[in-house]
Amino acid sequence: MLSKRSSAMRQQLSSAQTPGARVRTLDACFSNARRRLNRMNTQALITTAHAMLAQGKGLLAMDESNATCNQRLAAVGIAPTPEMRRAYRELLLTTPGLGQCISGVILFDETLHQASANGTPFVRLAADAGMLVGIKTDLGAKDMACHPGEKVTEGLDGLRERLQSYFSQGARFAKWRGVMAVDAWRLPSNACIQANAHALARYAALCQEAGLVPIIEPEVLMDGAHTPARCQDVTEAVLRTVFEQLVQQGVLLEAVVLKPNMVIAGSASTTQTTASEVADATLQCLLRVVPAAVPGIAFLSGGQTGEQASSRLNAMHDGRALPWRLTFSFARALQYPALAIWAGKDANRDAAQAALLHRARCNSAALKGSYNAAMELQSAEAMPSQ
Ligand code: 13P
Repeated sequence: MLSKRSSAMRQQLSSAQTPGARVRTLDACFSNARRRLNRMNTQALITTAHAMLAQGKGLLAMDESNATCNQRLAAVGIAPTPEMRRAYRELLLTTPGLGQCISGVILFDETLHQASANGTPFVRLAADAGMLVGIKTDLGAKDMACHPGEKVTEGLDGLRERLQSYFSQGARFAKWRGVMAVDAWRLPSNACIQANAHALARYAALCQEAGLVPIIEPEVLMDGAHTPARCQDVTEAVLRTVFEQLVQQGVLLEAVVLKPNMVIAGSASTTQTTASEVADATLQCLLRVVPAAVPGIAFLSGGQTGEQASSRLNAMHDGRALPWRLTFSFARALQYPALAIWAGKDANRDAAQAALLHRARCNSAALKGSYNAAMELQSAEAMPSQ
């Protein structure tokens, strides 16, 4: 195919007589080639996005930065060392049966280069389990100048080269998280929303250029006492701005995965909401602003418990028709029970893996609307595999 194309190019070039005509012909040939390559690239991106959103499966976010991973290890009494981070990630990736419920894993840069105790690269372990590899590409949310209490995510400098390297190491999708703090009336500022949305869109364009599907994660934080209505208004404003920026930067909407927060009350709010109220508010918000061209939405858990996240995801799968596939891309709501059970001890490894598989199966059931509280009492082995 390629050789046919280059011989056609050569024929066109040799028939060009003048230098001006030759340059124009060259331009035409190369822009045709670029278009063809782009079409191939586009098709590969769309195929990857659909694989990430495979029926009944979700994503496992295990891409905590070293600092965050250390905090989480230390919180359950595990020494926060590079070896314990590696051992923990090995435990997650080698969970038997995980690939039945998990389509892809999001790794941190350090983890992408690591291997199991027997020397199998983590990228190979994921592939052998049928899971795509994703990579966190942002360099973290940093204090925003002139905007106390707000953050902007950094990492665009040198990103093109890092993405090329990640692709060559086997990554097929990427993640970038922007965070927006909320209060009753002041936060987030328009400046914070605009800056984070712009960075997300530039990251997304670079990802697609490098052959990686961008996960776009604008997170409206749960911290604070705000009401669900405030969360809904802010989430809608943030997502509207994000999609404006994505369109401005020329991002192909058919090859992105949106990773938003659910619409929920702040963690210090006294307002109680049911799972179906969360589902209604979240879907109303998303239907207003997320174009139907987007293939799927994979929620973050944001500090919800495993049970809360599963029951709310389940309530969104009550048979209503939606233009996109919904799934999960949880870190804490999948990992926390497993981490606490493991506690850094080899003897607890199997039980920890069973706890991870249990949460993955609960969420997989939620994608069919068949999750219920009784499942929390079953062991992973007793639950139907998906
Ligand atoms: P949580 O599910 O713990 O919110 O994490 C998701 C994530 O990937 C954060 O960037």
